[in-house]
Amino acid sequence: MHDRLCYGAQFLAYTSGGNVEPANSREYGRANLSHIDGEDELLKGIHVGSQIWMSHGDTITVLPDNFKVIASTDDVRAAAYHVEGEQTWGVQFHPEVFHSTDGTKLLDNFLNICGCAKDWTPASFIESTVAELKEQLGDDKVILALSGGVDSSVTAVLLNKAIGKNLTCIFVDHGLLRKNEFENVMRDYEHLGLNVIGINAKDKFYKELAGVTEPEKKRKIIGKGFIDVFDEEAHKLKDIKWLGQGTIYPDVIESLSITGTVIKSHHNVGGLPDTMNLKLVEPLRLLFKDEVRRVGMELGMQPHLIKRHPFPGPGLGIRILGDITPEKVRILQDADDIYMSLMREWGLYDKIWQAGVILLPIQSVGVMGDERTYENTVALRAVTSTDAMTADWAQLPYEFLAKVSNEIINKVKGVNRVVYDISSKPPATIEWE
Ligand code: XMP
Repeated sequence: MHDRLCYGAQFLAYTSGGNVEPANSREYGRANLSHIDGEDELLKGIHVGSQIWMSHGDTITVLPDNFKVIASTDDVRAAAYHVEGEQTWGVQFHPEVFHSTDGTKLLDNFLNICGCAKDWTPASFIESTVAELKEQLGDDKVILALSGGVDSSVTAVLLNKAIGKNLTCIFVDHGLLRKNEFENVMRDYEHLGLNVIGINAKDKFYKELAGVTEPEKKRKIIGKGFIDVFDEEAHKLKDIKWLGQGTIYPDVIESLSITGTVIKSHHNVGGLPDTMNLKLVEPLRLLFKDEVRRVGMELGMQPHLIKRHPFPGPGLGIRILGDITPEKVRILQDADDIYMSLMREWGLYDKIWQAGVILLPIQSVGVMGDERTYENTVALRAVTSTDAMTADWAQLPYEFLAKVSNEIINKVKGVNRVVYDISSKPPATIEWE
């Protein structure tokens, strides 16, 4: 859907008599506005030089006569336009992403033009959502899949506020969590006063994943494994009518098939078998991550829970490229633990959207002492973003990367090479699978 704004601008221009053609070069990434109509209401307070983010393969080549260009970059003449005599604007860049530095200003101008009251705040969201959940759920019982992440934790606290003891949370250890994550997170949940059942299902997942290399197949197995475990628990608990999930808007978008191409199937979106007989309750379905965090703060949750980096549902399963074995999980957990601990120690954790280590399916030659080694390579990933839909690789200090590399190679048996991923999204993705 983040491609819709520019698509909308192109669609409107095209259907009003203009033209849209494939761009000579792909227009991806950062650009700067080299011309701005400072008088235009939509661009009030935005100045020449302002950084924007582009992401499109087609471009507007001819604008209809009454469409006036109000902003351009060196490469894109119709970066934004205003239809004369109408309250209609089009933008070919993405004001909604972090890398468009005045994007929020533009959206704010737009809300003013529309006469919006801007009273949709974290506090009003909590008030209306809790009321809706009470209404929707009544006296029904809900089980909620907790993952340790921000989304499901905020979902749990909201549901707990709405229905209290009728909520049972399930936290499954699929054996693909970070090192010590299961124990630490269980402690946090108990501290929040949630009614949580922790289930160790490692062996089931390792067995089902053995020998499977294809990324989407791994996701499907892990997704189905979760459903099996919840289904079993739901039956034990009796009278459960609802399954709660921490689905947020980007999960929904990236699992949609608009053009017939699903980028990645996020297992936490829909797809429950009919036999489960549970209805789905997803109170955060329309929120972006930064909004979820603001709601969490407003709910008084501990900062370390709120600021936690996103972590994919299939966990380390999609960071071990190729097949998964308990030994590979051990190697990746140890390397990841060093990376994340040092990131916190160096004060970098909160500056990064998401970071992790990827275990590559290649061995390479090294030397330790007098011995030749032939061992694994790990890739470090760290990105900045606000919504995971676009992301930039983080320019971590060399001294930090040197320290992480040294620690991993010295302490993690089985790794003799560390590399740093310097790709942005798009065209790469955050995860490697
Ligand atoms: P990508 O790799 O598509 O990731 O750029 C965007 C965001 O989604 C997370 N991700 C997943 N989350 N199940 C999830 O719950 C998945 O299968 C999955 N795949 C990617 C990823 O970690 C990033 O935050």
